[in-house]
Amino acid sequence: MTMLDAQHSPYIRPAKAGRAKRRRWLGLTIAFLIVLALDFWAFYPGPVVRTYPVTSDKIPQGSVCIVQISDLHSHIYGSDQQPLIDLIAAQQPDIIALTGDILDDREPDTGTALLLKGIRDIAPVYYVSGNHEYWSGRYDDMRALLESCGVTVLDNRWEELSVNGVTLRLCGVDDPMMFEYTDDPQYLALSGGSENERDNTRALLDSRFSALDDSAFNVLLAHRAELIGLYLEYGFDLILSGHTHGGQIRIPPFINGLFAPNQGFFPQYGGGRYDFDSGQTLIISRGLSFAAYVPRVFNPPEVVVVDIRANV
Ligand SMILES: [Fe+2]
Repeated sequence: MTMLDAQHSPYIRPAKAGRAKRRRWLGLTIAFLIVLALDFWAFYPGPVVRTYPVTSDKIPQGSVCIVQISDLHSHIYGSDQQPLIDLIAAQQPDIIALTGDILDDREPDTGTALLLKGIRDIAPVYYVSGNHEYWSGRYDDMRALLESCGVTVLDNRWEELSVNGVTLRLCGVDDPMMFEYTDDPQYLALSGGSENERDNTRALLDSRFSALDDSAFNVLLAHRAELIGLYLEYGFDLILSGHTHGGQIRIPPFINGLFAPNQGFFPQYGGGRYDFDSGQTLIISRGLSFAAYVPRVFNPPEVVVVDIRANV
């Protein structure tokens, strides 16, 4: 058989066609698996643990582990919150910090009550308010629930703690929506009736935290990440915030959030860690909210762990 005959042989042509067909199927299968993997990665429902080490010359020795929980919005993980409780317990925290919007104005408090009962014996729990808790119009009931579960509410004050040989001032500032909710004359005097969130928060910080000194490592719990410019004017070494939900849709490493409340599209402070020239650090939790109608893309709900230790 000549070469020309072989190319046109009816016995060889089906074999070539079969190889091409197999290659096409292999390509399609690989493409399908890549799409499946990307889909799983993009929409992974979490929760995941994200750990940030923070060191300071103010800490001669020892370490403190803070687990930060933010923006839960009363979502329930599993049937009874146990997966989330187990994840928090596994971090062996010294302190659990709740940085606002733990409860929600449109959801029942059940999910948060389950969480609070599950974590109360793991470590001391501290809380600052978020906007949704004030929007509910029943903040007093929510606060009563928190306190009945042993939570310390840091309502514009601090507690000085000694943990594993580390002196730590744990400070908390209310969400600025507090000014629209409260009828407490001391706060109304600070705001002068204004609803400007930045001005009111500045007045609050001036009145409560201007006397902070450097004798301890100062941590601020504050729900609103977008007010970081204000927080940096005071003596806080570390600020833990939330509110952004990670900007909902991320394309790491290019886009750290599509939209965040009070910051708009492509927020400057979408989520994660920000170190400033002043030596201060901001950590924004991307939160634990999960609603099928508002997808999180490359942005799984997260439990934040902050490992604070000596700078050696
Ligand atoms: Fe919020």
